[in-house]
Amino acid sequence: MAKATIQFPRGFLWGTATAAHQVEGQNKNNNWYAWEEAGHTEHKSGLACDWWGGRWREDFDRAAETGQNAHRLSVEWSRIQPERDRWDESAIDRYREMLRGLRERNMTAMVTLHHFTDPLWFAELGGWESDEAPQLFADFVRKTVSALKEYANLWVTINEPNVYAYSGYAAGVFPPGKKDLNIAFKVMVNLVRGHALAYKAIHEVQREARVGMAHQYRSMFPKNPHSPLDKWVAKTQSEIFNDMFPKALTDGKMKFLWKRVNVPEAAGTQDFMGLNYYSRDTVSFDLRMAGELFGARSYPAEADLSETGFIANEPDGFFEAMRWAQRFDKDIIITENGVEDAPDEMRPRYLAQHIEQVWRAVNFNWRVKAYFHWSLVDNFEWERGWTQRFGLWELDVETQKRRKRKSAELYEEICKTNSLSSEMVKTYCPEVMETIFPD
Ligand code: BGC
Repeated sequence: MAKATIQFPRGFLWGTATAAHQVEGQNKNNNWYAWEEAGHTEHKSGLACDWWGGRWREDFDRAAETGQNAHRLSVEWSRIQPERDRWDESAIDRYREMLRGLRERNMTAMVTLHHFTDPLWFAELGGWESDEAPQLFADFVRKTVSALKEYANLWVTINEPNVYAYSGYAAGVFPPGKKDLNIAFKVMVNLVRGHALAYKAIHEVQREARVGMAHQYRSMFPKNPHSPLDKWVAKTQSEIFNDMFPKALTDGKMKFLWKRVNVPEAAGTQDFMGLNYYSRDTVSFDLRMAGELFGARSYPAEADLSETGFIANEPDGFFEAMRWAQRFDKDIIITENGVEDAPDEMRPRYLAQHIEQVWRAVNFNWRVKAYFHWSLVDNFEWERGWTQRFGLWELDVETQKRRKRKSAELYEEICKTNSLSSEMVKTYCPEVMETIFPD
Protein backbone atom coordinates (compact mmCIF):
# COMPACT_ATOMS: atom_id res chain seq x y z
CA MET A 1 0.00 0.00 0.00
CA ALA A 2 1.16 3.53 -0.78
CA LYS A 3 2.24 5.59 2.19
CA ALA A 4 -0.23 8.26 3.19
CA THR A 5 -0.02 11.16 5.58
CA ILE A 6 -2.60 13.46 7.02
CA GLN A 7 -0.98 16.78 7.72
CA PHE A 8 -1.92 19.52 10.18
CA PRO A 9 -1.64 23.25 9.56
CA ARG A 10 1.51 25.05 10.58
CA GLY A 11 1.36 26.43 14.10
CA PHE A 12 -1.05 23.77 15.34
CA LEU A 13 -0.63 23.30 19.10
CA TRP A 14 0.01 19.80 20.44
CA GLY A 15 0.10 19.20 24.15
CA THR A 16 -1.25 17.43 27.17
CA ALA A 17 -3.54 18.70 29.91
CA THR A 18 -3.26 18.31 33.68
CA ALA A 19 -4.99 19.71 36.77
CA ALA A 20 -3.40 20.88 40.00
CA HIS A 21 -5.02 18.53 42.51
CA GLN A 22 -4.46 15.56 40.24
CA VAL A 23 -0.71 16.05 39.81
CA GLU A 24 0.68 18.33 42.52
CA GLY A 25 0.27 16.23 45.64
CA GLN A 26 0.10 17.49 49.22
CA ASN A 27 -2.89 19.70 48.56
CA LYS A 28 -4.30 19.77 52.06
CA ASN A 29 -6.34 22.92 52.12
CA ASN A 30 -9.14 22.20 49.66
CA ASN A 31 -12.52 20.46 49.69
CA TRP A 32 -11.16 17.44 47.83
CA TYR A 33 -8.57 16.73 50.48
CA ALA A 34 -11.31 16.85 53.13
CA TRP A 35 -13.48 14.58 50.97
CA GLU A 36 -10.66 12.05 50.61
CA GLU A 37 -9.88 12.19 54.34
CA ALA A 38 -13.54 11.61 55.16
CA GLY A 39 -13.30 8.30 53.30
CA HIS A 40 -15.43 9.10 50.26
CA THR A 41 -12.83 7.89 47.79
CA GLU A 42 -11.16 4.55 47.41
CA HIS A 43 -7.73 6.16 47.34
CA LYS A 44 -6.09 9.41 48.38
CA SER A 45 -4.30 11.86 46.16
CA GLY A 46 -1.27 11.86 48.50
CA LEU A 47 1.84 12.88 46.63
CA ALA A 48 0.04 12.48 43.29
CA CYS A 49 2.75 13.07 40.65
CA ASP A 50 4.72 15.16 43.14
CA TRP A 51 4.74 18.28 41.01
CA TRP A 52 4.67 20.42 44.13
CA GLY A 53 7.82 18.60 45.20
CA GLY A 54 9.43 19.64 41.90
CA ARG A 55 8.78 16.72 39.57
CA TRP A 56 7.00 19.04 37.14
CA ARG A 57 10.49 19.68 35.78
CA GLU A 58 11.10 16.13 34.65
CA ASP A 59 7.55 15.83 33.30
CA PHE A 60 7.84 19.08 31.34
CA ASP A 61 11.12 17.70 29.97
CA ARG A 62 9.29 14.58 28.85
CA ALA A 63 6.63 16.65 27.13
CA ALA A 64 9.13 18.97 25.43
CA GLU A 65 11.51 16.22 24.37
CA THR A 66 8.65 14.35 22.74
CA GLY A 67 7.66 17.29 20.58
CA GLN A 68 4.80 18.83 22.54
CA ASN A 69 4.69 22.57 22.00
CA ALA A 70 1.98 23.44 24.54
CA HIS A 71 0.71 22.42 27.95
CA ARG A 72 -2.52 23.07 29.82
CA LEU A 73 -2.18 23.11 33.61
CA SER A 74 -4.25 24.48 36.44
CA VAL A 75 -3.42 26.55 39.48
CA GLU A 76 -4.75 25.56 42.89
CA TRP A 77 -6.87 28.34 44.38
CA SER A 78 -6.34 27.08 47.95
CA ARG A 79 -2.58 27.45 47.60
CA ILE A 80 -2.72 30.97 46.22
CA GLN A 81 -5.39 32.10 48.67
CA PRO A 82 -5.08 29.80 51.70
CA GLU A 83 -7.46 31.96 53.75
CA ARG A 84 -10.05 34.47 52.70
CA ASP A 85 -7.83 37.36 53.72
CA ARG A 86 -4.43 36.00 52.83
CA TRP A 87 -2.47 35.51 49.61
CA ASP A 88 0.50 33.17 49.59
CA GLU A 89 3.12 34.91 47.49
CA SER A 90 5.46 31.92 47.64
CA ALA A 91 2.81 29.73 45.99
CA ILE A 92 2.36 32.35 43.28
CA ASP A 93 6.15 32.36 42.77
CA ARG A 94 6.07 28.60 42.39
CA TYR A 95 3.50 28.86 39.61
CA ARG A 96 5.54 31.60 37.96
CA GLU A 97 8.49 29.25 38.03
CA MET A 98 6.47 26.46 36.45
CA LEU A 99 5.19 28.71 33.71
CA ARG A 100 8.70 30.00 33.14
CA GLY A 101 9.66 26.34 32.87
CA LEU A 102 7.21 25.95 29.99
CA ARG A 103 8.52 29.05 28.28
CA GLU A 104 12.11 27.84 28.59
CA ARG A 105 11.03 24.67 26.83
CA ASN A 106 9.31 26.68 24.08
CA MET A 107 5.89 25.49 25.12
CA THR A 108 2.74 27.63 25.02
CA ALA A 109 0.96 27.71 28.37
CA MET A 110 -2.77 27.46 28.88
CA VAL A 111 -3.84 28.06 32.47
CA THR A 112 -7.04 26.82 34.09
CA LEU A 113 -8.14 28.86 37.10
CA HIS A 114 -10.67 26.42 38.53
CA HIS A 115 -10.45 22.69 38.00
CA PHE A 116 -12.96 21.05 40.39
CA THR A 117 -11.32 22.02 43.72
CA ASP A 118 -12.31 24.81 46.10
CA PRO A 119 -10.38 26.20 49.07
CA LEU A 120 -11.69 24.93 52.41
CA TRP A 121 -12.57 28.44 53.61
CA PHE A 122 -14.62 28.94 50.43
CA ALA A 123 -16.35 25.57 50.79
CA GLU A 124 -17.15 26.40 54.41
CA LEU A 125 -19.01 29.54 53.49
CA GLY A 126 -21.18 27.53 51.11
CA GLY A 127 -18.93 27.14 48.06
CA TRP A 128 -20.64 27.94 44.77
CA GLU A 129 -24.03 27.91 46.48
CA SER A 130 -23.10 31.15 48.17
CA ASP A 131 -24.08 34.46 46.59
CA GLU A 132 -20.59 35.69 47.43
CA ALA A 133 -18.96 32.97 45.30
CA PRO A 134 -18.77 34.77 41.92
CA GLN A 135 -17.07 37.85 43.36
CA LEU A 136 -14.70 35.82 45.55
CA PHE A 137 -13.66 33.77 42.52
CA ALA A 138 -13.16 36.89 40.42
CA ASP A 139 -10.95 38.43 43.14
CA PHE A 140 -8.77 35.33 43.10
CA VAL A 141 -8.65 35.38 39.32
CA ARG A 142 -7.64 39.04 39.18
CA LYS A 143 -4.82 38.48 41.64
CA THR A 144 -3.60 35.32 39.90
CA VAL A 145 -3.74 36.59 36.35
CA SER A 146 -1.99 39.82 37.33
CA ALA A 147 0.83 37.72 38.76
CA LEU A 148 1.09 35.21 35.91
CA LYS A 149 0.28 37.29 32.85
CA GLU A 150 3.91 37.57 31.85
CA TYR A 151 3.85 33.86 31.00
CA ALA A 152 0.39 33.10 29.65
CA ASN A 153 -2.46 34.65 27.73
CA LEU A 154 -4.71 31.62 27.26
CA TRP A 155 -7.04 31.24 30.23
CA VAL A 156 -9.70 28.68 31.09
CA THR A 157 -11.80 30.19 33.86
CA ILE A 158 -13.66 27.04 34.89
CA ASN A 159 -13.15 23.45 33.83
CA GLU A 160 -16.32 21.51 33.02
CA PRO A 161 -18.87 23.45 35.05
CA ASN A 162 -21.44 20.86 33.91
CA VAL A 163 -19.46 17.97 35.42
CA TYR A 164 -18.69 19.99 38.56
CA ALA A 165 -22.37 20.79 39.17
CA TYR A 166 -23.63 17.35 38.17
CA SER A 167 -21.09 15.36 40.20
CA GLY A 168 -21.21 17.51 43.33
CA TYR A 169 -24.91 18.42 43.43
CA ALA A 170 -26.87 15.78 41.47
CA ALA A 171 -24.90 12.50 41.53
CA GLY A 172 -23.23 13.35 44.85
CA VAL A 173 -19.90 11.72 43.98
CA PHE A 174 -17.85 14.93 44.26
CA PRO A 175 -17.86 17.15 47.35
CA PRO A 176 -20.15 18.37 48.83
CA GLY A 177 -21.97 15.14 47.90
CA LYS A 178 -25.44 16.68 47.51
CA LYS A 179 -28.28 15.36 45.40
CA ASP A 180 -30.57 18.30 44.90
CA LEU A 181 -31.37 19.67 41.47
CA ASN A 182 -32.52 23.04 42.82
CA ILE A 183 -29.16 23.57 44.46
CA ALA A 184 -27.41 22.25 41.36
CA PHE A 185 -29.08 24.95 39.27
CA LYS A 186 -28.15 27.65 41.78
CA VAL A 187 -24.54 26.47 41.54
CA MET A 188 -24.68 26.53 37.73
CA VAL A 189 -25.93 30.11 37.74
CA ASN A 190 -23.20 31.17 40.15
CA LEU A 191 -20.54 29.45 38.04
CA VAL A 192 -21.71 31.46 35.03
CA ARG A 193 -21.72 34.68 37.10
CA GLY A 194 -18.23 33.85 38.39
CA HIS A 195 -17.01 33.22 34.86
CA ALA A 196 -18.46 36.51 33.63
CA LEU A 197 -16.78 38.53 36.39
CA ALA A 198 -13.52 36.63 35.84
CA TYR A 199 -13.69 37.25 32.08
CA LYS A 200 -13.97 40.97 32.71
CA ALA A 201 -11.21 40.99 35.33
CA ILE A 202 -8.80 39.08 33.07
CA HIS A 203 -9.35 41.44 30.16
CA GLU A 204 -8.82 44.40 32.47
CA VAL A 205 -5.42 43.17 33.56
CA GLN A 206 -4.29 41.72 30.22
CA ARG A 207 -5.36 43.22 26.92
CA GLU A 208 -4.17 40.31 24.77
CA ALA A 209 -5.86 37.66 26.93
CA ARG A 210 -8.01 34.95 25.36
CA VAL A 211 -10.51 33.57 27.80
CA GLY A 212 -12.93 30.65 27.71
CA MET A 213 -14.21 27.64 29.59
CA ALA A 214 -13.44 23.96 29.05
CA HIS A 215 -16.79 22.38 28.19
CA GLN A 216 -17.24 18.64 28.28
CA TYR A 217 -19.49 17.60 25.40
CA ARG A 218 -21.13 14.17 25.17
CA SER A 219 -23.58 13.60 22.38
CA MET A 220 -26.66 11.81 23.60
CA PHE A 221 -28.70 9.49 21.45
CA PRO A 222 -32.09 8.06 22.30
CA LYS A 223 -31.53 4.36 22.92
CA ASN A 224 -34.68 3.57 21.02
CA PRO A 225 -34.91 6.18 18.25
CA HIS A 226 -38.64 5.45 17.86
CA SER A 227 -39.49 6.07 21.49
CA PRO A 228 -40.79 9.61 22.17
CA LEU A 229 -39.75 9.30 25.83
CA ASP A 230 -36.20 8.26 24.97
CA LYS A 231 -36.03 11.11 22.47
CA TRP A 232 -37.35 13.60 25.00
CA VAL A 233 -34.95 12.53 27.72
CA ALA A 234 -31.90 12.53 25.40
CA LYS A 235 -32.78 16.01 24.18
CA THR A 236 -33.41 17.39 27.66
CA GLN A 237 -30.17 15.96 29.02
CA SER A 238 -28.19 17.26 26.11
CA GLU A 239 -29.66 20.77 26.49
CA ILE A 240 -28.65 20.84 30.14
CA PHE A 241 -25.34 19.02 30.02
CA ASN A 242 -24.02 20.28 26.70
CA ASP A 243 -25.76 23.50 25.75
CA MET A 244 -26.50 25.37 28.93
CA PHE A 245 -23.06 26.83 29.67
CA PRO A 246 -21.84 27.80 26.20
CA LYS A 247 -25.27 29.24 25.46
CA ALA A 248 -25.19 31.33 28.64
CA LEU A 249 -21.77 32.63 27.63
CA THR A 250 -23.24 33.60 24.27
CA ASP A 251 -26.61 35.16 25.06
CA GLY A 252 -26.64 35.45 28.85
CA LYS A 253 -29.69 33.18 29.22
CA MET A 254 -30.01 30.03 31.29
CA LYS A 255 -32.86 27.56 31.16
CA PHE A 256 -33.18 24.56 33.44
CA LEU A 257 -36.42 22.61 33.05
CA TRP A 258 -39.11 25.18 33.91
CA LYS A 259 -36.68 27.68 35.44
CA ARG A 260 -35.20 30.61 33.59
CA VAL A 261 -32.52 33.00 34.76
CA ASN A 262 -30.91 35.87 32.89
CA VAL A 263 -27.23 36.55 33.45
CA PRO A 264 -26.78 39.41 30.99
CA GLU A 265 -23.21 40.10 32.11
CA ALA A 266 -22.23 36.66 30.74
CA ALA A 267 -23.29 37.38 27.15
CA GLY A 268 -20.30 37.48 24.81
CA THR A 269 -17.75 36.29 27.38
CA GLN A 270 -16.02 33.58 25.43
CA ASP A 271 -13.01 34.17 23.18
CA PHE A 272 -12.59 30.50 22.23
CA MET A 273 -14.51 27.25 22.67
CA GLY A 274 -12.61 24.89 24.93
CA LEU A 275 -13.83 21.37 24.22
CA ASN A 276 -13.28 18.26 26.35
CA TYR A 277 -14.41 15.08 24.63
CA TYR A 278 -14.15 11.52 25.91
CA SER A 279 -17.17 9.55 24.70
CA ARG A 280 -20.85 9.65 23.80
CA ASP A 281 -23.93 8.10 25.37
CA THR A 282 -27.17 6.46 24.53
CA VAL A 283 -29.98 7.53 26.83
CA SER A 284 -33.23 5.86 27.73
CA PHE A 285 -36.18 7.02 29.77
CA ASP A 286 -36.19 5.40 33.21
CA LEU A 287 -38.64 6.27 35.98
CA ARG A 288 -36.16 5.12 38.63
CA MET A 289 -33.70 7.83 37.63
CA ALA A 290 -35.54 10.88 39.00
CA GLY A 291 -32.27 12.46 40.19
CA GLU A 292 -30.89 12.17 36.67
CA LEU A 293 -33.99 13.70 35.11
CA PHE A 294 -35.25 10.22 34.23
CA GLY A 295 -32.40 9.43 31.87
CA ALA A 296 -30.35 6.24 32.11
CA ARG A 297 -27.11 6.58 30.19
CA SER A 298 -25.28 3.62 28.73
CA TYR A 299 -22.93 2.58 25.95
CA PRO A 300 -24.17 0.59 22.96
CA ALA A 301 -23.77 -3.16 23.36
CA GLU A 302 -21.25 -3.36 20.51
CA ALA A 303 -19.10 -0.48 21.83
CA ASP A 304 -15.31 -0.66 21.92
CA LEU A 305 -14.94 -0.27 25.71
CA SER A 306 -11.94 0.95 27.67
CA GLU A 307 -10.14 -1.03 30.36
CA THR A 308 -12.59 -0.19 33.17
CA GLY A 309 -15.59 0.32 30.90
CA PHE A 310 -15.54 4.06 31.66
CA ILE A 311 -15.15 5.16 28.06
CA ALA A 312 -16.47 3.84 24.77
CA ASN A 313 -14.12 4.56 21.89
CA GLU A 314 -16.45 6.67 19.70
CA PRO A 315 -14.38 8.87 17.39
CA ASP A 316 -17.47 9.84 15.38
CA GLY A 317 -18.82 11.40 18.54
CA PHE A 318 -15.73 13.60 18.60
CA PHE A 319 -16.52 14.83 15.10
CA GLU A 320 -20.07 15.60 16.24
CA ALA A 321 -18.67 17.43 19.25
CA MET A 322 -16.54 19.64 17.01
CA ARG A 323 -19.48 20.25 14.69
CA TRP A 324 -21.47 21.37 17.72
CA ALA A 325 -18.58 23.55 18.97
CA GLN A 326 -18.29 25.16 15.55
CA ARG A 327 -21.76 26.65 15.99
CA PHE A 328 -20.42 29.17 18.45
CA ASP A 329 -18.22 30.66 15.75
CA LYS A 330 -15.01 30.85 17.79
CA ASP A 331 -11.63 29.19 17.59
CA ILE A 332 -11.90 25.70 19.03
CA ILE A 333 -9.29 24.33 21.39
CA ILE A 334 -9.48 20.65 22.29
CA THR A 335 -8.75 21.12 25.97
CA GLU A 336 -9.01 17.38 26.84
CA ASN A 337 -9.36 14.03 25.09
CA GLY A 338 -8.09 10.67 26.25
CA VAL A 339 -8.83 7.27 27.68
CA GLU A 340 -8.04 5.28 30.82
CA ASP A 341 -5.99 2.28 29.79
CA ALA A 342 -3.20 0.98 32.03
CA PRO A 343 -2.07 -1.75 29.63
CA ASP A 344 -2.12 0.78 26.77
CA GLU A 345 -3.99 -1.55 24.45
CA MET A 346 -6.76 0.75 23.34
CA ARG A 347 -5.02 4.12 23.70
CA PRO A 348 -2.94 3.96 20.49
CA ARG A 349 -6.03 3.43 18.35
CA TYR A 350 -8.12 5.85 20.41
CA LEU A 351 -5.43 8.47 19.85
CA ALA A 352 -5.05 7.83 16.13
CA GLN A 353 -8.79 7.67 15.48
CA HIS A 354 -9.53 10.85 17.44
CA ILE A 355 -6.69 12.77 15.85
CA GLU A 356 -8.01 11.71 12.47
CA GLN A 357 -11.30 13.39 13.41
CA VAL A 358 -9.49 16.59 14.33
CA TRP A 359 -7.88 16.53 10.91
CA ARG A 360 -11.27 16.05 9.23
CA ALA A 361 -12.61 19.03 11.15
CA VAL A 362 -9.60 21.17 10.22
CA ASN A 363 -10.16 20.24 6.57
CA PHE A 364 -13.72 21.49 6.75
CA ASN A 365 -12.14 24.78 7.80
CA TRP A 366 -13.57 24.41 11.26
CA ARG A 367 -11.45 26.51 13.52
CA VAL A 368 -9.70 23.81 15.56
CA LYS A 369 -6.33 25.22 16.62
CA ALA A 370 -4.98 22.95 19.33
CA TYR A 371 -5.20 19.48 20.83
CA PHE A 372 -4.39 18.69 24.46
CA HIS A 373 -4.33 15.00 25.30
CA TRP A 374 -5.49 13.95 28.76
CA SER A 375 -2.98 13.30 30.20
CA LEU A 376 0.80 13.48 30.41
CA VAL A 377 1.36 11.08 33.33
CA ASP A 378 -1.12 8.88 35.21
CA ASN A 379 -2.74 11.09 37.83
CA PHE A 380 -5.31 11.09 40.62
CA GLU A 381 -8.70 10.39 39.06
CA TRP A 382 -11.03 12.05 41.57
CA GLU A 383 -13.61 9.67 43.06
CA ARG A 384 -12.03 6.85 41.02
CA GLY A 385 -8.69 7.43 42.69
CA TRP A 386 -5.81 5.49 41.17
CA THR A 387 -8.01 2.84 39.57
CA GLN A 388 -7.88 4.61 36.21
CA ARG A 389 -4.73 5.47 34.29
CA PHE A 390 -4.94 8.19 31.67
CA GLY A 391 -1.23 8.93 31.24
CA LEU A 392 0.95 8.73 28.17
CA TRP A 393 3.48 7.84 30.84
CA GLU A 394 2.70 5.23 33.46
CA LEU A 395 3.27 6.29 37.07
CA ASP A 396 4.28 4.06 39.95
CA VAL A 397 2.62 6.02 42.73
CA GLU A 398 4.87 4.51 45.44
CA THR A 399 8.25 5.03 43.82
CA GLN A 400 7.25 7.98 41.58
CA LYS A 401 8.94 6.21 38.68
CA ARG A 402 7.59 6.98 35.22
CA ARG A 403 7.56 4.60 32.28
CA LYS A 404 6.91 5.66 28.72
CA ARG A 405 3.93 3.91 27.19
CA LYS A 406 3.74 2.97 23.53
CA SER A 407 1.12 5.70 23.06
CA ALA A 408 3.67 8.30 24.15
CA GLU A 409 5.87 7.15 21.28
CA LEU A 410 3.01 7.44 18.83
CA TYR A 411 2.08 10.89 20.15
CA GLU A 412 5.71 11.92 19.90
CA GLU A 413 5.75 11.04 16.20
CA ILE A 414 2.51 12.94 15.66
CA CYS A 415 3.74 16.06 17.49
CA LYS A 416 7.17 16.05 15.87
CA THR A 417 5.88 15.66 12.32
CA ASN A 418 2.63 17.63 12.81
CA SER A 419 0.93 14.73 11.07
CA LEU A 420 -0.44 11.22 11.33
CA SER A 421 0.88 8.75 8.80
CA SER A 422 -0.10 5.30 7.61
CA GLU A 423 3.28 4.10 8.86
CA MET A 424 2.46 5.25 12.37
CA VAL A 425 -0.92 3.56 12.30
CA LYS A 426 0.62 0.39 10.92
CA THR A 427 3.22 0.38 13.68
CA TYR A 428 1.12 1.35 16.70
CA CYS A 429 -2.46 0.32 15.95
CA PRO A 430 -2.67 -1.82 12.80
CA GLU A 431 -6.17 -2.91 13.84
CA VAL A 432 -7.57 0.45 12.65
CA MET A 433 -5.51 0.72 9.48
CA GLU A 434 -8.54 -0.02 7.30
CA THR A 435 -10.68 2.66 8.89
CA ILE A 436 -8.09 5.46 8.79
CA PHE A 437 -6.09 4.60 5.68
CA PRO A 438 -8.27 2.24 3.65
CA ASP A 439 -6.45 0.44 0.90
C1 BGC B 1 -11.75 16.09 33.93
C2 BGC B 1 -10.40 15.56 34.36
C3 BGC B 1 -10.46 14.06 34.49
C4 BGC B 1 -10.86 13.46 33.17
C5 BGC B 1 -10.87 11.94 33.13
C6 BGC B 1 -12.43 15.25 32.87
O1 BGC B 1 -13.80 15.28 33.08
O2 BGC B 1 -11.65 17.42 33.54
O3 BGC B 1 -10.03 16.18 35.55
O4 BGC B 1 -9.26 13.52 34.95
O5 BGC B 1 -12.14 13.90 32.86
O6 BGC B 1 -11.78 11.39 34.02
